[in-house]
Amino acid sequence: MTATALSSVAASPRDIMLARYDGNAPRYTSYPTAVEFSSAVDEDVAAGWLGDIDLAERLSVYVHIPFCERLCWYCGCNTRAVRNPDLVSAYVAGLADELALIEKALPGRPTAGAIHLGGGTPNKLSRDDLGTLFRALRHVFKVSPGAEIAAELDPSILTRDWVTAAAFHGLSRVSVGVQDLSPHVQEAVNRHEPFAVVERAVGWLREAGLSSINFDLMYGLPRQRTEDVLATLDKVLTLRPERLALFGYAHVPWVKPHQKLIDASDLPGAAERLDQNEAAAEKLTSEGYVRIGLDHFAVSDDPLAVALKQGRLRRNFQGYTADPHMTLIGVGASSISRLPQGFYQNDATELGWRRRVQEGRLPVSRGVALTDEDRFRGDVIETLMCQRAVDLAVVCARHGRSLDDLESEQTALKAMAEDGVVTVSGGAVEMTALGEPLIRSVARVFDGRSGAASRFSRVL
Ligand SMILES: C[S@@+](CC[C@H](N)C(=O)[O-])C[C@H]1O[C@@H](n2cnc3c(N)ncnc32)[C@H](O)[C@@H]1O
Ligand code: SF4
Repeated sequence: MTATALSSVAASPRDIMLARYDGNAPRYTSYPTAVEFSSAVDEDVAAGWLGDIDLAERLSVYVHIPFCERLCWYCGCNTRAVRNPDLVSAYVAGLADELALIEKALPGRPTAGAIHLGGGTPNKLSRDDLGTLFRALRHVFKVSPGAEIAAELDPSILTRDWVTAAAFHGLSRVSVGVQDLSPHVQEAVNRHEPFAVVERAVGWLREAGLSSINFDLMYGLPRQRTEDVLATLDKVLTLRPERLALFGYAHVPWVKPHQKLIDASDLPGAAERLDQNEAAAEKLTSEGYVRIGLDHFAVSDDPLAVALKQGRLRRNFQGYTADPHMTLIGVGASSISRLPQGFYQNDATELGWRRRVQEGRLPVSRGVALTDEDRFRGDVIETLMCQRAVDLAVVCARHGRSLDDLESEQTALKAMAEDGVVTVSGGAVEMTALGEPLIRSVARVFDGRSGAASRFSRVL
């Protein structure tokens, strides 16, 4: 229904919201967003930034593993299905070579306070691959005692042996992919994962002493109904995960052509997606989980919930984090690094990445250098995305700016306040309960760069 059509019937605030705001927007895991990256930031710029790293400060390392056992049709990650273990080992050897190039650019041996293995599926690495990778990481970085070592896992190919090997290297936090446990949804997305597989994986992880387990769940999948989301929650909550992520399916077949395998007519509409999100959030909060930002939930004493309470929650490429480090070094094809001067991204294709590493060059293909304006706008957006509220006067003061610099943004917010999406009082902006799912659209008001909305996934 259009806004004009709505004016002729008695529309509820929720109907108005669906009609006016069912658009597309970035997820703001960074600002500027990756669509703003360009070849102006190349390997020489990246090497200069790495050379300026302050060795007194701890940093984080992200390692991308772009392999999976099979390809789930909804997947938006940079990955491919690979069955041959030699291909994975060859890639890990390439990671060690890239780490040697990073070592050359660094001014010394920095301390890593966090290492995150993401993907794809890091548990595609063999015991030997894990050994090669951690030896190379520990050679380039001092890994601080008590560093958080995290990995994203596909439970259907997890083995007890893998868990033992990863625990030996210090694994302390895991994220397990679940999505939806209903057979008809799994059928529609080519992911067959019975609950027993998740239960078995959690058993091995707990046995190895892991005290931080996250489950990734999704809503908005083809043929998925609210009762499927709730039934999945009923099952996984019996395993008492410390965290849950509840991602709305981002259907972007123009970016991920394999998503065309999903029949678009099977996808739930905006109102249904909203119902699924709200029903799941209600269940999780009634079970004692704290809602963290847009799409995460955590038990109340979890570091994420504590960081939210203390105003220290941050947003990075993995979503919400309590990671305090300002510098993140990305390793592997497509990984993104964040340094005080800006962001840079490695070549997204495995072939291009490998070729550059073999030539002895940092495999950087694009990025963006931050301006003061970016830092200011990025601060407003990150604060809003994390706290669901932002005091514009406070952020302006942090950056030596005046509220008058945000005049057009404040006018846009006034219209959103009239629709019940936010409340505005002076410079203080707060999401309402009704408006909460629209937080990306509100953040977009402060975006001074990102172009056409159609490039991003839908908000609702
Ligand atoms: C690297 S995978 C997790 C580990 C492992 N590969 C697995 O799937 O079990 C990252 C997560 O991103 C989420 N995800 C993938 N594609 C998505 C999409 N198109 N929209 C929203 N979330 C998506 C899924 O919840 C998935 O678990
Ligand atoms: S959801 Fe996980 S297992 Fe499935 S294709 Fe994506 S990264 Fe691979």
